[in-house]
Amino acid sequence: MSVKHFLTLQDLASDELLSIIHRAIELKKNPSLATMQRNKTLGLIFEKSSTRTRVAFEVAMTQLGGASIFLSNADSQLGRGEPIEDSARVLSRMVDCVAIRTFGHEKLERFAQHSQVPVINALTDDFHPCQLLADMQTFIEHRGNISGKTVAWIGDGNNMCQSYINAADLFDFELKISCPEGFEPDVALTDKFAQRVSLSRDPKIAVSGADLVVTDVWASMGQEHEESQREASFSNFQVNRELMSLANTDALLMHCLPAHRGEEISAELLDAEDVVIWDEAENRMHSQKALLEYLLSQ
Ligand code: CP
Ligand code: NVA
Repeated sequence: MSVKHFLTLQDLASDELLSIIHRAIELKKNPSLATMQRNKTLGLIFEKSSTRTRVAFEVAMTQLGGASIFLSNADSQLGRGEPIEDSARVLSRMVDCVAIRTFGHEKLERFAQHSQVPVINALTDDFHPCQLLADMQTFIEHRGNISGKTVAWIGDGNNMCQSYINAADLFDFELKISCPEGFEPDVALTDKFAQRVSLSRDPKIAVSGADLVVTDVWASMGQEHEESQREASFSNFQVNRELMSLANTDALLMHCLPAHRGEEISAELLDAEDVVIWDEAENRMHSQKALLEYLLSQ
């Protein structure tokens, strides 16, 4: 029997993704509608820090009547060098689903190849598909269908940007990326979805006509040593009031968080009354709950 994993958005079809998101919207309004997952356990293997993703998964499992077990490198044998394949074989004989946050995406893939239970990408260096579920839910809640809309990605061509490229294909929107030279997303990905994705050096060009503007930190987890050099390269890529004024008048602004006020996003925008970024963060829980309900019911 083949197991359904969620390693990138492309592991699910557009209609499956949309039904998870609509279910998340429904469960947010009425949590008692959830299909309970009593006696089910979610394993959480995190090799990088997390607030939202971890708490969202743990709270979701609690609300579904199941349990979760958190394993960091400091307290698992994985952290002492036990092969990922052996960890996958053993853990998947005990738990019902595993979410992994790690560095190399291929490590996640190797775990999934040896797992008997669904594996979820809780962020790798290359992709962050769970965040996209929450972002798409937030857009749909505030503005309706995202199909045919225009999204601007301002900043690093990182894991979030690459998941936005996948989302452009699956949710049918145009993605305008603006990043400094040397910080582009994987060219294989931009080539694959060239019909949906364009790249410019000028953030003003990218945000013009955008219905959604998205940004993220300039240095991701694991790139802390590059912070000062990146600050110089990205200095013209801050999303602020002036830049947002070039987007459509009802454009939304999103950020996966954590944010660096005064770097990729101005403090004024992040602290604005009408910002949807806190809804976006809350939606991590609703959308991951809907994802768990879906994968655990297969
Ligand atoms: N956005 C996000 O994934 O946040 P955490 O790193 O806190 O999980
Ligand atoms: N690009 C960021 C996202 C954090 C949720 C990182 O990988 O650190």
